[in-house]
Amino acid sequence: MISIARVGHVFRTKGRRVQALLETDLQIRDREFLTIVGPSGCGKSTLMNIIVGLFPPSSGEVLYRGRRHVGVNRSIGYVTQADNLLPLADASPERRVSPSSCAWSESPSGASARSV
Ligand SMILES: Nc1ncnc2c1ncn2[C@@H]1O[C@H](COP(=O)(O)OP(=O)(O)OP(=O)(O)O)[C@@H](O)[C@H]1O
Ligand SMILES: [Mg+2]
Repeated sequence: MISIARVGHVFRTKGRRVQALLETDLQIRDREFLTIVGPSGCGKSTLMNIIVGLFPPSSGEVLYRGRRHVGVNRSIGYVTQADNLLPLADASPERRVSPSSCAWSESPSGASARSV
């Protein structure tokens, strides 16, 4: 169970104050499949980052199995929104890794691959 109680978060950068989350409550039960949907900028990533412990909330608390966690909670698997794919996982089909050298090489069939 992950319990999110009155969680708020404010970012302060370059004199600007952004209220990313305000008084957010959520209970996530074990084995529950949950999707958080909302417009860009509504605070989805901020909430996920707080749940996993990348940074603490400005207010409120997150309990993991009844306990407040300090720092990154390694019991939670998490893939952040951006910049986490290995270059070799690039969906671009005109690149491939040479199995023998593990070096980048250009596919000779790049043009046809791009048309797929
Ligand atoms: N590191 C940061 N510094 C300053 N403001 C931030 C930071 N991270 C997020 N914000 C701001 O906090 C608000 C919530 O951002 P967040 O990334 O959580 O939204 P999101 O719902 O995940 O958006 P998206 O759907 O575009 O991924 C936005 O106004 C965003 O500009
Ligand atoms: Mg996001």
